[in-house]
Amino acid sequence: MIKIAPSILSADFAHLGRDIQRISDADYVHVDVMDGLFVPNISIGIPVVKCIRPVTDLPLDVHLMIDRPVRYVEQFCDAGGDLITCHVEADTEENIHSAIVKIHAKGKKAGVVVKPKTPASAVLPFINEVELILVMTVEPGFGGQKFMADMMPKVQEIRRYIDAMNPACELEVDGGVDPVTCKLCTASGANVLVAGSSVYKAEDIPARIRELRG
Ligand code: DX5
Ligand code: ZN
Repeated sequence: MIKIAPSILSADFAHLGRDIQRISDADYVHVDVMDGLFVPNISIGIPVVKCIRPVTDLPLDVHLMIDRPVRYVEQFCDAGGDLITCHVEADTEENIHSAIVKIHAKGKKAGVVVKPKTPASAVLPFINEVELILVMTVEPGFGGQKFMADMMPKVQEIRRYIDAMNPACELEVDGGVDPVTCKLCTASGANVLVAGSSVYKAEDIPARIRELRG
């Protein structure tokens, strides 16, 4: 069963509650948090997560594109995040482990994310501890970029690791996912698809979500 996580980065922030209700057929709400340091863009943070928590029953998938995320993971859990993902490039291995421990102590799910240039093996120190691994299929920072099909061997490699070491772990992809590229992702073993512009630009959002789910 393929899950869809629309990214609200492509929503209209002046009508965020309405735009979250438009994706009620999805499986997660993907929330992109950017700090202007880890990525060259600034988006939204803790107060916005707190405000969107009551407007949906869907779990909030909070993608932290921030430097040293261990500093903030507990606050994102308290704000209402259900699944918190941290980039392996954003801190030391020890601090990423601490971030995962802190997220679990709050009763929430934890995940790790890899940027396009980071090898699949970078997830190995964390694979037994996390509920989800996210593979970026664009350079993080902006919605609407072109899908990097050359990330598919990495998705396949991480799928093999997951099947061997932690079969319950979900495998998510993020960036440039549309009704064509989604097929490459699922064929490579991803089971959660983030989609920003392809969902929010669709005339019929529920139909687009069904199309992406395949
Ligand atoms: C990029 C973000 C993505 C982005 C995806 O840094 O992590 O979640 O919103 O947008 P699309 O689907 O338009 O590539
Ligand atoms: Zn994202």
